[in-house]
Amino acid sequence: MAILITGGAGYIGSHTAVMLLEKGFDIVICDNFSNSSNDVIEKIKKITGKDFNFYNIDLRSKSDIDHLFQTEKIDSVIHFAALKAVGQSVQKPLYYYENNLCSTINLLHIMDNHHVKNLIFSSSATVYGDKATPPYKEDSETSATNPYGQSKIMIERMLEDLHHSDDSWNIISLRYFNPLGAHSSGLIGENPQGIPNNLLPYIAQVASGKLPELKVFGNDYDTPDGTGIRDYIHVCDLAEGHIKALMKLKGSPGYDVYNLGTGKGASVLELISAFENANGIKIPYTITERRPGDTPLSIADVEKAEKELDFKATRTLQDMCRDTWNFQKSL
Ligand code: NAD
Ligand code: WQD
Repeated sequence: MAILITGGAGYIGSHTAVMLLEKGFDIVICDNFSNSSNDVIEKIKKITGKDFNFYNIDLRSKSDIDHLFQTEKIDSVIHFAALKAVGQSVQKPLYYYENNLCSTINLLHIMDNHHVKNLIFSSSATVYGDKATPPYKEDSETSATNPYGQSKIMIERMLEDLHHSDDSWNIISLRYFNPLGAHSSGLIGENPQGIPNNLLPYIAQVASGKLPELKVFGNDYDTPDGTGIRDYIHVCDLAEGHIKALMKLKGSPGYDVYNLGTGKGASVLELISAFENANGIKIPYTITERRPGDTPLSIADVEKAEKELDFKATRTLQDMCRDTWNFQKSL
C-alpha cells in the first residue's frame, strides 16, 4: 500500500516525499506542475535512490484522480496541492477557490469511492487571520484576510463535517507556520517563479545578485526592533511533522488540527542577520512602508503537537539560512 502525495513536486511535498522514501514508505506522487517542474521528481529519485510512480494530473479532473486510484493501491493521502500566493488570490479569487476547493472536493469523493479514508491536509497559520492573539493555539479564533486563507478555513471546516458525517474518516489538518530552508543536498528547495513574495527567497535572490536590495516592510510595529515577527520552521522539520501525523492517524484515528511551528519568533532584521552570519554575505536593505495585510506577530503555540504528535522542530534559523543559500547557489 502506498501514500499518495498530491502536489509532491512542490516545495513542502518534495521534502516530505524524500523523508517518506528514506523511512521506507511506498509513495505515489501526483502534480500538474502549475508551480513546479518534472526535474523535481527526478531529483527526489536521485536523493533517495528509490523509484515511485508519478502522475501528471490536475486534481480538478475527477476522472484523472479516479484513474490513479484504480491503478494504484493507496491507503493514505497527504494533500499538499494548492495555489498559495496570497496577493494573486485577491486578484483571482475564483481561480483560487476553483483550484483549492474543487480539487479537494474531487479528491475526497474519489477517496470515499475507493474506501481510502486517511488524510493529512496542508493548512496554514494564515487561518489565524487578524483576530486571534499570538501565540496561536489550535482553538484560537480563525478568520481570513484573503481568498487563499478563506480556502484553507473552508477546507478545514469541510473535513471536520466529513468526519462528523462518517467517523471512519481519519483526518489531520496541519497548520504550517513559515516554512524556510531546503534539503541538505541542495537539489530541492523553494524556487519561486518571478519576484519572490516571501522574505527568505527574496533575501536569497539579493545575495545571488538577482535583486539589488531587500525592502523591509515597516519598522514601526510594536515589536522589539519594530519589524514583523514570524515563526520560521525548517521545511525538513515540517516533513518530519507529516510522518508524526501519519503515525497519529494510524494509532488514534479521528479529526484533529495541529500547529507545526517552532514556538519561537524572529524579526525581519533578525532573519537578515542570521542569513549574513550563516553565509558571510551582506544583505543590503532599505526600510519601506508596511505591506498591506501584514500582522506584526505570528507565533505558534506548539504544546499540542509536542504532546499529541511527539513533534518538536530541531533545526535553527542558521540552518534554514545556510540550506536556503546552498540551494540558491545551485540554481
Ligand atoms: P508549492 O506551490 O511549492 O506546491 C504545491 C504543488 O501543488 C505544486 O507543485 C503545484 O504544481 C501543485 N498543484 C497546485 N494545484 C494543483 C492541481 N489542481 N492539481 C495538481 N497539482 C496541483 O507550495 P508549497 O509551499 O509546497 O505548499 C504546499 C501546501 O502547503 C499548499 O497547500 C500550501 O497552501 C500550504 N502551505 C504553504 C506554506 C508556505 O509558505 N509554503 C505555508 C502554509 C501552508
Ligand atoms: C515575513 C515577514 C513581511 C518580504 C506568507 C503568507 C502565509 C503563508 C506563509 C501560506 C513579514 C516581511 C517580506 C519582503 C519584508 N503562506 N517581508 N520584505 O507574510 O508571514 O506569510 O507566507 O500559507 O499565508 O501570507 O511571510 O515571508 O511574506 O513575510 O520585509 O520582501 O517579512 O512584512 O513581516 P508571511 P513573508
